[in-house]
Amino acid sequence: MFATRFSVFSVLLLAVPTALAASATDWRGRAIYQLLTDRFSLSTNQATSCNTTQALYCNGTWNGITNHLDYIQGMGFDSIWISPIVANVEQTTAYGQAYHGYWAQDITSLNPHFGTADDLKALSAALHKRNMYLMVDVVVNHFVSTSSVATSNNANLDFSKLVPFSNSSDFHPYCLITDYNNQTNVEQCWLGDQYLPLVDLNTENPSIVSTMNNWIQGLVKSYGIDGLRIDTAKHVRKDFWPAFAKAAGVFTMGEVLIGDVGYAAPYTEVLDSVLDYPNYYTLTSAFGSQTGNFSALINTVTASQKSYSTPSVVGSFLENHDNPRFQSITQDISLVKNAMTWPFIQDGIPILYQGQEQGFTGGAMPGNREALWPTGFVTSNKPLVTHVTTLNAARKAAAAANSTFLTTPLKFIIQQDPSLLAVSKPPLVALLSNLGSNSTKSSTWVAPGVASANEVLVDVLSCAVVKADGSGGVSVPVVNGLPQVLIPASALAKNGTVCPSVATGSSSGTSGGGKKSGVISIRGGLGFGGMEDGWVVRMLGVVLVGFLAQGW
Ligand SMILES: *[C@@H]1O[C@H](CO)[C@@H](O)[C@H](O)[C@H]1NC(C)=O
Ligand SMILES: *[C@@H]1O[C@H](CO)[C@@H](O)[C@H](O)[C@H]1NC(C)=O
Ligand SMILES: *[C@@H]1O[C@H](CO)[C@@H](O)[C@H](O)[C@H]1NC(C)=O
Ligand SMILES: *[C@@H]1O[C@H](CO)[C@@H](O)[C@H](O)[C@H]1NC(C)=O
Ligand SMILES: *[C@@H]1O[C@H](CO)[C@@H](O)[C@H](O)[C@H]1NC(C)=O
Ligand SMILES: *[C@@H]1O[C@H](CO)[C@@H](O)[C@H](O)[C@H]1NC(C)=O
Ligand SMILES: *[C@@H]1O[C@H](CO)[C@@H](O)[C@H](O)[C@H]1NC(C)=O
Ligand SMILES: *[C@@H]1O[C@H](CO)[C@@H](O)[C@H](O)[C@H]1NC(C)=O
Repeated sequence: MFATRFSVFSVLLLAVPTALAASATDWRGRAIYQLLTDRFSLSTNQATSCNTTQALYCNGTWNGITNHLDYIQGMGFDSIWISPIVANVEQTTAYGQAYHGYWAQDITSLNPHFGTADDLKALSAALHKRNMYLMVDVVVNHFVSTSSVATSNNANLDFSKLVPFSNSSDFHPYCLITDYNNQTNVEQCWLGDQYLPLVDLNTENPSIVSTMNNWIQGLVKSYGIDGLRIDTAKHVRKDFWPAFAKAAGVFTMGEVLIGDVGYAAPYTEVLDSVLDYPNYYTLTSAFGSQTGNFSALINTVTASQKSYSTPSVVGSFLENHDNPRFQSITQDISLVKNAMTWPFIQDGIPILYQGQEQGFTGGAMPGNREALWPTGFVTSNKPLVTHVTTLNAARKAAAAANSTFLTTPLKFIIQQDPSLLAVSKPPLVALLSNLGSNSTKSSTWVAPGVASANEVLVDVLSCAVVKADGSGGVSVPVVNGLPQVLIPASALAKNGTVCPSVATGSSSGTSGGGKKSGVISIRGGLGFGGMEDGWVVRMLGVVLVGFLAQGW
């Protein structure tokens, strides 16, 4: 009985930090693990298999996530992005079930497949206890009607079960999007198709606007949400977003699915950030084969640095649930490691999609939505788990060593060899290539003036030491096409987990969960820090339970 009361009280206490709404600045130094709630973890018994082809619920839950936060945090991620949480259509449609959460029917109720309101609050509290953030995916643009039968107009659709908008006049008149060059068509016509039309909310109607703004404000408060990923943002008029984002009061990242920086950029004015799709496309083609062309990648980054309102907070990703996994394009381990490195050294907030770290290879949707639990959440002998863990640690160490690291735009250091790419973002230097693991060509990155004179740098991925020359330049031969991420030896802790044998920094990690500065030790700074915070709060809980017992 005491235990029950005790834990309820801890949850109440721990919910307090959620009152401090997380801003873009709060998110900037974070790293996001994207998971599909239905596909990450079951509540119990992880023996069940999940057939992605069938596109049915595989029964992952919020409790499942709560039970595996060690797995996520152990890789250095301090935020998660989960699937939409609201109640969806229950039917099996022409495209399967709404296991992904994007087919809302009632935005005032939670999706019962994922758990209860208490389960979601417990997830939020468990994250905050670890100083992790919760990003929730939300859809404003559309609902899905309950009769998803083939139809040539919306006359056959039943609006009565849609909540809180159950009148056909709450939605744009039926027309499927036919012209992506016509923004009105993109915003007011419908996504989906005749088999599964996505009923398009009339976001021009002031009363609908105000209902949606109240809804998001309530949702964020109820579940202690720290950030929103906004689905299909380009399908809603731009000037809808500022008031919605303000009502939410937390960081917002919009999905603007487009390769064109010029099209995406204005959405960084009305929302805090966008998912950096232009960068995704050029990244994928740059490292997808040995003949990938880096110029498009360089051009995209240069353009986005000029035109995004805050390039340091856009979502930088290699994979997500909507696109074929990178390993369905190539499984050359060197190309994979180079491509995976990019989001962690690029200007934005890195996002890793569940399963990438386990080497998943699923192709186009729904093949790319593999359940994670069959892996057993094993991290040992998983080279890509090690890779992302190191990249997260290196990014944190670089940010700790230079207070402007996260806001400094990366600079390309032009290479003679078109298969090489070098990037400087002090104090970090990233050396990438698309030579592939079997290349016999001898190639060398040449990067003048990226460090201090004679500075000792460490490639965190191999722990090789690289000494800068008298003018701070480095010249590094490529080994097996692998990437290198150099940071000063002095930015790594001698007792840390990243290359401790060559590190020269001393840890300034504190035991009270206070802000770390100077040097990061992964084990002390990222692995157990959250637990220490939790311990302190539980101690407070004991004190307050004591007060309660006295009638306070
Ligand atoms: C998955 O489901 C599809 C479609 O029902 C079926 O063809 C396939 O054999 C199933 N795969 C496995 C491994 O059961
Ligand atoms: C998910 O749960 C439903 C309802 O309990 C069940 O019918 C289905 O077989 C489960 N799916 C899997 C993959 O276990
Ligand atoms: C739906 O909205 C229209 C237009 O506002 C109104 O005339 C009609 O009565 C509404 N229908 C229902 C069932 O509320
Ligand atoms: C753009 O799309 C809207 C909505 O479908 C349509 O009414 C309008 O005529 C289109 N404009 C042009 C120039 O095609
Ligand atoms: C790479 O792409 C750029 C344009 O983005 C083009 O000018 C250049 O010729 C391409 N290089 C190769 C080798 O195809
Ligand atoms: C590299 O070479 C080995 C041995 O010839 C071969 O098995 C492998 O498929 C090659 N890998 C790539 C990515 O070409
Ligand atoms: C920190 O970053 C700034 C901006 O790029 C750079 O000028 C400065 O040299 C860096 N300092 C260190 C110690 O890396
Ligand atoms: C590393 O050493 C510092 C003291 O220099 C200490 O405060 C910190 O706890 C140590 N970290 C680990 C992981 O042992």
